[in-house]
Amino acid sequence: MKVLVCGGAGYIGSHTVKALLREGYEVIVFDDFSSGREELLIGGEVIRADLDDKGPIRRAFRSRDIGAVLHFASLTQVGESYLNPQRYYTHNLSTSLNLLEAMLEAGVKTIIFSSSAAVYGIPKETPITESHPLSPINPYGYTKLFVERILQDYEKAYGLKHISLRYFNAAGADPDGDLGEMHEPETHLIPSILLFLLGKKESFELYGTDFPTPDGTAVRDYVHVTDLAEAHVFALRRLLKTPESEAINLGASRGYSVLEVISKVEEVTGQKVRFMARPQRLGDVPILLASKEKAEKKLGWRPRFSELETIIGTAWKWHRKAPGR
Ligand SMILES: NC(=O)c1ccc[n+]([C@@H]2O[C@H](COP(=O)([O-])OP(=O)(O)OC[C@H]3O[C@@H](n4cnc5c(N)ncnc54)[C@H](O)[C@@H]3O)[C@@H](O)[C@H]2O)c1
Repeated sequence: MKVLVCGGAGYIGSHTVKALLREGYEVIVFDDFSSGREELLIGGEVIRADLDDKGPIRRAFRSRDIGAVLHFASLTQVGESYLNPQRYYTHNLSTSLNLLEAMLEAGVKTIIFSSSAAVYGIPKETPITESHPLSPINPYGYTKLFVERILQDYEKAYGLKHISLRYFNAAGADPDGDLGEMHEPETHLIPSILLFLLGKKESFELYGTDFPTPDGTAVRDYVHVTDLAEAHVFALRRLLKTPESEAINLGASRGYSVLEVISKVEEVTGQKVRFMARPQRLGDVPILLASKEKAEKKLGWRPRFSELETIIGTAWKWHRKAPGR
């Protein structure tokens, strides 16, 4: 089957392309390379185009027998979304609407959407289950919630089947060393520390030391990107077999504080991490932790690489040799 992967040249998309190719799917990557990288393309056909432009995506469907879509293409920085909500709402909604329009026109009714834990906002309870109230606290989170909502309405009206995967903190790199994280600028915790240790980031700033957590730093649920990639293959298989739309959390259900991450990085790399303590950032919550029960039950998914040591070890291997860095 031919699968269209929008945003397949990005961090999570590229790892998923690898997993899909391994499972025998024919992959077509559709990406404008705004944050995607040539170095992260390891196979499949590539269409270099912007989803904001209706023409190329419509042509992609017209000229190929595409059976399903995975939609990773999005602006992704929470902090930037506060400063420039117009850009986030316009981009994340219009690109999704254009993609859905082209899909419906072509009669393609299966989509896996990259959603986020940001749809939950401030947790009322942890671990967070999928029935937790949806109340984002930033424009980025709202764009994810709105697309989830659009998918639900399109299902009712047009029979579009979808699984929205709500990722917690994606981290780590391909265990074979082929792929990894290459965001520019890099805002995620683990690569920020590693790039600092490699002298590729000037400083490492730790935001918030007065959260109501055991050591005062924020606790997050880190899930290995290869585990995320595998979950997409499982979700696609399920949706093709049992066309039931769902929203499913993807997290390891294990939380680590920033100081615990730093200590593990020091252990893995053998280097001391010096940081500058800064005040909490707008909208940062003390603890984010997923319940993975639904993913286990519905997808048969179990994280295999999401131990913190494996996450940091694979990321360290990648960043030391990463092309273009
Ligand atoms: N990284 C995380 O921890 C995390 C957590 C939750 C949700 N997500 C979601 O997962 C998805 C992938 O995240 P990522 O970290 O791999 O990001 P990424 O920036 O590495 O990948 C996004 C890809 O989409 C492409 N893209 C963006 N706009 C496009 C457009 N208009 N037309 C065509 N291609 C376009 C980019 O070039 C890039 O290749 C995003 O939707 C993100 O919101 C990520």
